[in-house]
Amino acid sequence: MDPSRILAVRTAHRKAYTWQDRAALGTVRLLRWGMDFVSGYNSRPADTNTPSKAYIMTEEKWITRFIFLESVAGVPGMVAGMLRHLKSIRRMRRDNGWIETLLEEAYNERMHLLAFLKLAEPGLAMRFMVLGAQWVFFSGFSLAYLISPQICHRFVGYLEEEAVITYSKAIRDLEDGHLPAWEGLQAPKMAIKYWQMPEGQRCMHSLLLYVRADEAKHRDVNHTLGNLDQNMDPNPFAAKVRAQVQSVTGSTGGLRQLRENSRKET
Ligand SMILES: [Fe+2]
Ligand SMILES: [Fe+2]
Repeated sequence: MDPSRILAVRTAHRKAYTWQDRAALGTVRLLRWGMDFVSGYNSRPADTNTPSKAYIMTEEKWITRFIFLESVAGVPGMVAGMLRHLKSIRRMRRDNGWIETLLEEAYNERMHLLAFLKLAEPGLAMRFMVLGAQWVFFSGFSLAYLISPQICHRFVGYLEEEAVITYSKAIRDLEDGHLPAWEGLQAPKMAIKYWQMPEGQRCMHSLLLYVRADEAKHRDVNHTLGNLDQNMDPNPFAAKVRAQVQSVTGSTGGLRQLRENSRKET
């Protein structure tokens, strides 16, 4: 990935226009509030009027938070990909290139988790929490995706907005000198290999920038998928579709033209 694009990532918010958008956003806000409340999360730096040391985000607290959140983040892409795969088989129809992007997202989130696991060893309590969260989230998200995939993609879009905010706060804490153990810390070897981190950009700070860039991509992808017709529209992020868009852009309506083609074929 181009380093300038990684640095250019910013937090962003898509306005909620419909009741479906508001339902997705409300659910994300409720989950975030619950998670922050239970974990005592507050990213205020230590030198401001922080009421208690318990609220200061240390390296250990950040890693614990990352591991828990990434263990949950790997679920939606896999569930969505699996359900679309089964639907394609069941209805004996093409999927229009969605499955590949969804599974890729799940794989990417799992790589985030594996990278952070190289920096910490979760205890028994954490493992039980992940187990419980996976059971609840997998069941809930699967059911919700069967009912309304569109709301689910919007939900993931808003969830990823929060992920970008979280990583931006961690990056700021590191840049402000509040996480001394991470200053100059090398990123794990598997992370360097996975993101193909160039020489001179293989520290913890770079790792957080790469992860945040991935979250921003998931945010934009899922908000886009949430805008599309779930049954008829081709996935504009699929490699094959991108190539086709390029080939028709200019003379015709790009994605609109592909959508028409796809409808004719199915
Ligand atoms: Fe992630
Ligand atoms: Fe994510």
